[in-house]
Amino acid sequence: MALVTFSNPEYRDKTVYAVAGSHTETLLKLARENKIPINYECEDGECGTCLIKVSSIDKKHQRMGSPLTEKEKAVLQSSGKISKAEMEQMIVDDLPSPWRLACQMIVRDEDILVEY
Ligand code: FES
Repeated sequence: MALVTFSNPEYRDKTVYAVAGSHTETLLKLARENKIPINYECEDGECGTCLIKVSSIDKKHQRMGSPLTEKEKAVLQSSGKISKAEMEQMIVDDLPSPWRLACQMIVRDEDILVEY
């Protein structure tokens, strides 16, 4: 089980349980199931509408995250959120990206803060 806290300045924070490890449960799906008003359009990693910022709640442990999909890499670079050099460095250092697309990110067994 993972705890996912959704945070937006216009709404109260909401923390929900996520069943991790299914490898199919995206963050957007979890948000929709819990009536979290994350914006989305294509649901296919193309439009960038569902951009979120993800950080670890437990500051002692480094985030596991899941690797960026090719579609996320393309959208995050074209939107200027992550440069090509930063992207390459994250891959070399095996660090998770703080910027994700909710429709592409698979929930893992870790407690995270999602800003949308
Ligand atoms: S809804 Fe379009 S990229 Fe996620």
